[in-house]
Amino acid sequence: MNVVYGTAMIPMAVLVSGGGTNLQALIDAAEAGVLSWGKIALVISSTPQAYALKRAAQHRIPAVIVERNQYHDAAAYDRAMLHTLEAHRIRLVVLAGFLAILGTPVIQAYKKRIINIHPSLLPAFGGRGYYGLKVHEAVLAQGVKVTGATVHYVDERVDGGEIIVQKTVEVLEGDTPEVLQKRVMEQAEWLLLPAAVELVCKLDTT
Ligand code: GRF
Repeated sequence: MNVVYGTAMIPMAVLVSGGGTNLQALIDAAEAGVLSWGKIALVISSTPQAYALKRAAQHRIPAVIVERNQYHDAAAYDRAMLHTLEAHRIRLVVLAGFLAILGTPVIQAYKKRIINIHPSLLPAFGGRGYYGLKVHEAVLAQGVKVTGATVHYVDERVDGGEIIVQKTVEVLEGDTPEVLQKRVMEQAEWLLLPAAVELVCKLDTT
């Protein structure tokens, strides 16, 4: 299905590194008409292997690959990332399973315009080393009974920026990290991210 976007919609880039199920949730929300304040103008992948690129292609969303190892240092990588964002007139950057690190030049240029989804109730189980299944492994090791997902603004601290929205998910007896990860995605992430994007885009236009 093709989506006709209004001219006033906020152009956003979704940055990915993997499967892209959160990107898919945003695409589905756009196609269902529930993402009405922003449009996915670009997908940026940190690797050519990301399945998320196939999702973008299936929905005719422009996509580019910006790989850290193609640049000799972090500054050159940040310049390339900024150039890509600016060339596409991107106003909001959505990190959806993006595993590369954005440096200060990008974070400062897009202050309060970069958001990230994290699969726990931050500040718990966040920070360096907490990504992918490791988050859910730590949740189970700690024995907490409630986990969830968080969407937050990105600043220079890993998983440390201002929280926008959170949603809780129950941890159940016998959960494995994989089972818990799936429940957190289904019950929290895929609902929370489109809602947060809509909220942030709306704030930007009002
Ligand atoms: C999600 O759990 C997200 O919260 C985290 O990375 C994972 C990405 O999954 N930041 P996907 O690529 O969207 O399927």
